[in-house]
Amino acid sequence: MPDEQRVPKPASTQGYAEQAEALIPQYEAIPFVKRHEAELHLLPTAPSRILDIGAGTGVDAAWFAEQAHSVLAVEPTAEFLTAAMRLHPSPLIEWLDDTLPGLERVLSRGQRFDVVMLSAVWMHLDETERSAGMPKLASLLAPGGLILLSLRHGPIPAGRRMFEVSGEETIELARQHGLEVVLNTLTGSLQPGNLAADVTWTRLAFRRGG
Ligand SMILES: C[S@@+](CC[C@H](N)C(=O)[O-])C[C@H]1O[C@@H](n2cnc3c(N)ncnc32)[C@H](O)[C@@H]1O
Repeated sequence: MPDEQRVPKPASTQGYAEQAEALIPQYEAIPFVKRHEAELHLLPTAPSRILDIGAGTGVDAAWFAEQAHSVLAVEPTAEFLTAAMRLHPSPLIEWLDDTLPGLERVLSRGQRFDVVMLSAVWMHLDETERSAGMPKLASLLAPGGLILLSLRHGPIPAGRRMFEVSGEETIELARQHGLEVVLNTLTGSLQPGNLAADVTWTRLAFRRGG
């Protein structure tokens, strides 16, 4: 993609371009059903519209496409986006360079989604960005749609920008935008480096309250 068409790289992506070469195989190594075991039961089975924000190498987007879902995969780190398009070519995946919290390119399309996924992304945003981002996520949900969001807890990898964000804070922020929590569970890590560092994950799911 020509540079003039790229969105400015947000501070939240700090460290990813430099570390992409090492991270790509790590992200690709763990299958979707293991990474997302806690929320599998909530996923739609009929072909649905998925928005994967901070899609990384596209490993989750690829799984959704294999299940016949159509996916808009959003990723601001050029090194990941390029790798994702090469590793997971699929007519069911559309790739987009865009960023939280604004999501201007996504919102300009006027689409709504059955699943909005933010796997290991939300804790890269500071408090102001999280407050600005949550109403955007809520507005992108189709009726009955689901937001899946995971939060990393533990030591911050060198060179990255991350915040300690609690499940409780995220549930309260979501509630303020009409979202009801339907999953709140703590899991361990699967990636060897994170496992060794005792990293844990809060896995949340939200639906619009009635
Ligand atoms: C830990 S990786 C997770 C990648 C993928 N979701 C996964 O689970 O394998 C975090 C991702 O969030 C992306 N990211 C960071 N800041 C972002 C922002 N402001 N908007 C969208 N994505 C962002 C990074 O570029 C990176 O791909």
